[in-house]
Amino acid sequence: MSLMAMVYDRMMAGVEEAGLSQWRAELLGEAFGATLELGAGTGRNLSFYPDGVTRLVLAEPDRAMRTRLHRAVVSTERPLAPEVVDAPAEALPFDDASFDTVVATLVLCSVGDPGRALDEVRRVLRPEGRFLFIEHVAADDRPPRLRWQRRIEPLWRAVAGNCHLTRRTETAIAAAGLTVEHLERASMRKAPSFVRPTIRGTARAA
Ligand SMILES: C[S@@+](CC[C@H](N)C(=O)[O-])C[C@H]1O[C@@H](n2cnc3c(N)ncnc32)[C@H](O)[C@@H]1O
Repeated sequence: MSLMAMVYDRMMAGVEEAGLSQWRAELLGEAFGATLELGAGTGRNLSFYPDGVTRLVLAEPDRAMRTRLHRAVVSTERPLAPEVVDAPAEALPFDDASFDTVVATLVLCSVGDPGRALDEVRRVLRPEGRFLFIEHVAADDRPPRLRWQRRIEPLWRAVAGNCHLTRRTETAIAAAGLTVEHLERASMRKAPSFVRPTIRGTARAA
């Protein structure tokens, strides 16, 4: 994953400019209270958290990503310093019902076990807490693109930090017992065509 950490910001620059940064801003405007971000990477979401976020925990299991995340935390001005934690989404070192908001952007494609990760999201969310997500997914509405995703997935996983192309993340969110409140299917502009199909939205814990 270290190579990914080295190239990530440069690789994503065009995609951020073409709309991803705007999506981040819109999504993270919904965060409030004690907030946990999974797989926070190089810290691309940091500047978008609103003042209503009273505690910000950034979980990131990859050491090279965490090094960059620490740098981003130091250079971001927030009244309360975010906490950086070495933790995979599948085994979060937090009590049940300890967060108001959990965030995952472009993470559930890469985790080893998305079902377990989402079970953890539900566990650490307080009742009525919200899960905010932007995730690229299987191109179920475009069979030729889905076939292309299936073909290229093994190679892509090997070069892009275990990033899967054909995950059905909307189904996995519901299977974890989270209620999807809002979901938009969108195309992540300037990304390779097999990464473009994206869902962005919010889900609520019971
Ligand atoms: C494509 S990057 C996205 C980074 C960041 N969330 C963003 O929006 O730019 C995927 C991130 O997921 C992290 N990741 C991989 N496996 C993970 C796991 N099991 N639990 C949590 N994060 C994981 C990677 O280290 C990496 O930082």
